[in-house]
Amino acid sequence: MKQIPFNRPYLSGKEAANFDDLLRSNRFAGPGPFGIICEEKLGALLGNPAVLMTSSCTHALEMTALLSGIGPGDEVIMPSFTFVSMANAFVLRGAVPVFVDIRPGDMNIDPTAIEGAITSKTRALVVMHYAGMACEMDTILALSRKHELILIEDAAHCIGASYKGRPLGTFGDLATFSFHESKNIHCGEGGALVINRPEWLPLARQIREKGTNRPDFIRGEVAFYEWTGVGSSYLLGEPSTAFLAAQLDEVATVTQERKRIFDRYVALLSPLEKAGKLELPNPIVGSEHNGHIFFIKLEDGSSRNQLADFLANRSISAYFHYIPLHASLAGKAFCRFEGTDNFTTKESERLLRLPIYPGLGDADLKYISEAIEVFFQTVD
Ligand SMILES: Cc1ncc(COP(=O)(O)O)c(C=O)c1O
Repeated sequence: MKQIPFNRPYLSGKEAANFDDLLRSNRFAGPGPFGIICEEKLGALLGNPAVLMTSSCTHALEMTALLSGIGPGDEVIMPSFTFVSMANAFVLRGAVPVFVDIRPGDMNIDPTAIEGAITSKTRALVVMHYAGMACEMDTILALSRKHELILIEDAAHCIGASYKGRPLGTFGDLATFSFHESKNIHCGEGGALVINRPEWLPLARQIREKGTNRPDFIRGEVAFYEWTGVGSSYLLGEPSTAFLAAQLDEVATVTQERKRIFDRYVALLSPLEKAGKLELPNPIVGSEHNGHIFFIKLEDGSSRNQLADFLANRSISAYFHYIPLHASLAGKAFCRFEGTDNFTTKESERLLRLPIYPGLGDADLKYISEAIEVFFQTVD
């Protein structure tokens, strides 16, 4: 039987040549020449903000909490339908994540739920563009300015995606990207921090270097380096940046291919949507997504699970996504949900992600959508 994995990590074909250069250079710790190439290439894709490569998006998020000076007693507003790293970054600083509801069409934070969650303790607003589909950034920017909140974008899914022509990851004071192998381009494990407040760059470099002024020492600006503040080891090593540098030129090609597959799914599954069997993603006007995730939504959690099992029996891997953080063990202990959970729980239970990666052929897409059609005929 045909096996269709959920993801196939992308390879540009140029990775081996970069590894040859790396081995010849005999230089492996970050940030070296490949790290700088990645920062320049990613910066160029984003319109040249300051970029620091990091060991993961999780670590970049931890850096946002440190840079924002967030600490005990502070509150940070974020969606509950998100990855655990977002909340953890602030819990590690002793702050309280305050969750608000999402909107069903794109699974992104509901801007109308934000103001009701703001208190005198609120310091930051963190948004996540699910599946590379932009949040309602005009409203979110206006709210963060009005209430003087630090705005952080978790752009883990967002390479190559934009809102009203502007790349995601350039709206917030800070933004984070992931280059985990599940992402559109990757280096196994890796991430980046985007700093749209240039005055924070020197501190960000020190935080990334274990809380030392080693970056100044390397540039010859100080005679020795010492412990200067709170930090950790957030650098990305040269083997990883050599791998990623080989992929950063391919963002446009990868995005185009993934969007082609996304659009093909939409064409193949639209009849089922029209028949009321499932729902398709509905990005907001102005959002130019990057085909990172293709999801469908079923009537409820039980039919979603039945379909996932049905597809697994046909060797098609399809997965749900985040269990809302406020429903998790740690979420209950460290965080609170503000307002009504109209959609977070209900929509996350109904969501199923289908395979999407360059190389997924039309025959595979037809095989998957026919299997979904057969599922609905079976349950009808
Ligand atoms: C929205 C979001 N943020 C952050 C992360 C963490 O990324 P990383 O694995 O690079 O730490 C993920 C992981 O998939 C994610 O989905």
